[in-house]
Amino acid sequence: MRVVDDILKLIGNTPMVRLKNIPKSTDASVYVKLEYLNPSGSLKDRIALEMIRTAEEEGKLKPGYTIIEASTGNTGIALSFVGSHLGYKVVIYMPEGMTQDRINIMKSYGAEVYLIKPEDLKSSEKSVAGAEIEIPTRMMCLERERSDPKVWWARQFKNPANTKAHIKTGKEILQQLDGEVDAFAASIGTGGTLLGISKALKDELPNIKIIGIEPASAKYSLVSGFKKVPGASEEVSGGIVAELIDSGLVDEFVSVTNDDAIDMTNRLLFEEGLFAGVSGGANVLVAYKLSKKLGKNKRIATVLPDSRDRYLTEMRYTT
Ligand SMILES: Cc1ncc(COP(=O)(O)O)c(C=O)c1O
Repeated sequence: MRVVDDILKLIGNTPMVRLKNIPKSTDASVYVKLEYLNPSGSLKDRIALEMIRTAEEEGKLKPGYTIIEASTGNTGIALSFVGSHLGYKVVIYMPEGMTQDRINIMKSYGAEVYLIKPEDLKSSEKSVAGAEIEIPTRMMCLERERSDPKVWWARQFKNPANTKAHIKTGKEILQQLDGEVDAFAASIGTGGTLLGISKALKDELPNIKIIGIEPASAKYSLVSGFKKVPGASEEVSGGIVAELIDSGLVDEFVSVTNDDAIDMTNRLLFEEGLFAGVSGGANVLVAYKLSKKLGKNKRIATVLPDSRDRYLTEMRYTT
């Protein structure tokens, strides 16, 4: 058993479980990486640490600065944890309508949390047409960054350290499965998880099948290619997701409905004892369908990004 002298050393190196009840013995094996066992409860601890350390090394983040970010939950929680632990002030801008639990966790870690309505924006771009959920909060970060030199905006949606953190996750998967993986599937938010892990896996295994997953409700679906949010500037849109599409690393994009993701999230709990969040259910659903196609003696890997306790008041699959 590991003993460490700093909680940050427990980020990453998460364990893996081979599902024993959901796939049948004639199906491919499905391996899930328990990212909810990271210290603040999600895979975003990895990127919070990597983005902060990189910014410190590059001189963009210095003692006395405030870390800011736009987040619907997990990244805000992870930055609140890592940032506060390292002595920074942390401010998170969240879209209105997220659960109170997430806000309470960020505040427990010491962050300030502001709930943003598009109307709250001062800038001329406040009328972003059909903005995806995070655009107004990113606009808020941009305004704050421009007006205060002692602010560092983590910019998870386009920060290369996000992808870099997950190249390490991919290397862990390779090591845990002795370099034998036939397919990998993961849900896309910023795209950092899928891009980083795919880079690591395809580097070693050029024939591996990579599947990107998104909620069926996504307004700007990737299934038919990347589309810019109408009216949103480069400063607040695109980034890693656009890079992911251009990279050609993803063999297939599929969408999963909220209800189907929740059904599999429940099966993970009842049949496997895994207390995973809803995007984990979506990931396993896609891996499970593929396990039937690939059949025995093949191996599919995926991640359980966060824990079910983030969804107790509202089960929802939007990454
Ligand atoms: C619960 C959950 N699952 C999956 C993802 C997707 O991760 P990424 O932003 O790396 O694409 C996120 C983040 O957006 C998330 O919070």
